Parts: sequence; structure tokens; C-alpha cells
Amino acid sequence: MPGRAARPFPLAVAALAVMVIGYSRPTADRQASAGGQSGRDASGNTAPVVTIVQPDASRTWQWSAQFRYAITVTDKEDGDSAFGEIMPSEVLLDVEYLPGTPGDGLEPVRSAARADEPGLAILRKSACLNCHADKTSLVGPSFSAIADKYGDSEETIARLGRHIRNGSSGSWGSLPMPAHPNLSPQQTQDVARYIVEQGRRRHRWIYAGLEGVIRIIDRPDDDGVGFYRLTATYLDNGVAGGEGTSRRGEHSITLRLGDPATPPRDVAPPAE
Ligand code: HEC
Repeated sequence: MPGRAARPFPLAVAALAVMVIGYSRPTADRQASAGGQSGRDASGNTAPVVTIVQPDASRTWQWSAQFRYAITVTDKEDGDSAFGEIMPSEVLLDVEYLPGTPGDGLEPVRSAARADEPGLAILRKSACLNCHADKTSLVGPSFSAIADKYGDSEETIARLGRHIRNGSSGSWGSLPMPAHPNLSPQQTQDVARYIVEQGRRRHRWIYAGLEGVIRIIDRPDDDGVGFYRLTATYLDNGVAGGEGTSRRGEHSITLRLGDPATPPRDVAPPAE
């Protein structure tokens, strides 16, 4: 299993970070949590600041189009993504498709929380996402393939938890999964539950990394109006020796989806 230090810092990320310095911070950001995201808490840990610098949330995006995303993270203790100090596999983008119009939920939201949900924190911090992705297979099977194959009964969760802890081979192909003896049985069950729940969500995707390209879904059969909610998160490492002092920084934006504006049907085309 690749260790924390084994991941070379991709130069492309540095280049991209330099490119995006010209971007202005979203000004309408709402602070969703009291006290904002930047203050130090009682443990002395400062929460990370996460920013989705791409895509452009001010335009309407077309069905089936592709967009590039880029995320920056700065954290007083852990460092800055621009300098390769943040592990890309620990930066997650959650993309959710929702039908209809977003109502008043269009403006970006920033928040800082105490923690991830239990399974997600383990997934993020245990290098699982170096080998697994949510909806596509990498070295290991995708979350959706795992959910489709086994369902989500308690028996399944317990068995998958044991396989994560003890390692697994032969169920999916010729490559084995290493054991994770440092995770407790409870932790492996939490992460197994997260994987099958997330894998079953057909209109919600989790991506790891500071940048990437995402293809928007095809136009749905209904009235063709919908939106994507993008939420980038990073869970910091807390302060040295301070168990349980991690904090999570979060930034959400909304992408309006729809057909390009078409002229009303009763307007005659201009005469030649
Ligand atoms: C080095 C790559 C690698 C890492 C790291 C890794 N996995 Fe896997 N994982 C695999 C492979 C390969 C398989 C398929 C094994 C098989 O065929 O039985 C697999 C299978 C699985 C399965 C399905 C097991 C089954 O019984 O079918 C689950 C669930 C899973 N991994 C979760 C995790 C979690 C959670 C982590 C992090 C704690 C993780 N994996 C880390 C490569 C990896």
C-alpha cells in the first residue's frame, strides 16, 4: 500500500495553482458555521480553507458537457496545496445532481465542521482512494460495483469489514487487496457501510484529487431542468499529538444545468 510520503507531487498541480492565482475568491460566500472557518479552536488547530476555483458557477452548463474542476486547500498546520503540502487523495469533491431549480441555494457556502462522517474519514485517510473510485474501477472495484454485487445487509457490512481488515483476494480478479490491521473492526465496518451506501447513489459522485474533468449527465427525460451541487472538502491532520483535533474545511457551489437558451418558437427566422 502506498505510504503518505510515497506519492510524488505532480508538477501539473503546481502549474495549475500558479494559473489560478488570478482567480478572485467568490465574494458572495456565505459562512455556514458560527465563527467562520479560519479561527483557531481550543486545541490550537486552525481549520483548513478549501476553495473550488473552477468551474464557473455563474453560467448555465449544458447537458452532456464536460467541465474541469480545480480545488485549492490552505491549512495553517498542514500547508498549502500550491506547494504540494496537501495529499491530493485526501481532497474530495462531492457532486450531486438534483432535478428542478436550486431555489435560493445558488450562492457558494463555506463552512468548517468538526469531522467527516465516520466511514468517509477512514476512506480519506487510509489511502483507499489510491486504489478505489466511486463509480469507476481502478486497481480495486468501484463502490457501485461492490454495492451491486453484495447489497447492504448488516451481514454484508460485517463481511466486507473483515475483508478490508484482513485483506482480500480472488473475489474480483487477480490483484489482492492488502490487509489494514491498523483499522479496528468498527472502523472497517463504518467504511464498508459508507462504500455500499455511496455506491448505490446513482446521482451522486465522489472524486478524489485537486483537479479533474467531469462529464455532466445526459438530459433527463423530464422537463430538462436541474443542477449540480459541488462540495469540496479537506479534513486536516489536527495538531501534533492532539488526538481528535482534526477539522474539516468545506466549499460548495451550484452549477445550473439546462439547454442553451433557444428563441421562442413563434418568432419567425429573419428573412434572407
Ligand atoms: C493497493 C490497492 C488497494 C488499497 C490501498 C485498498 N484496496 Fe480495497 N481492494 C483492492 C483490490 C485489488 C480489491 C479486489 C480484491 C479481490 O479480488 O478480492 C479490493 C477489494 C475491496 C473491497 C471488496 C471486498 C470483497 O469482499 O469483495 C472493499 C469493500 C474494499 N476493497 C475496500 C477498501 C478500503 C475501505 C480501503 C482502505 C482502507 C481499501 N479497500 C484499500 C485494492 C485496494
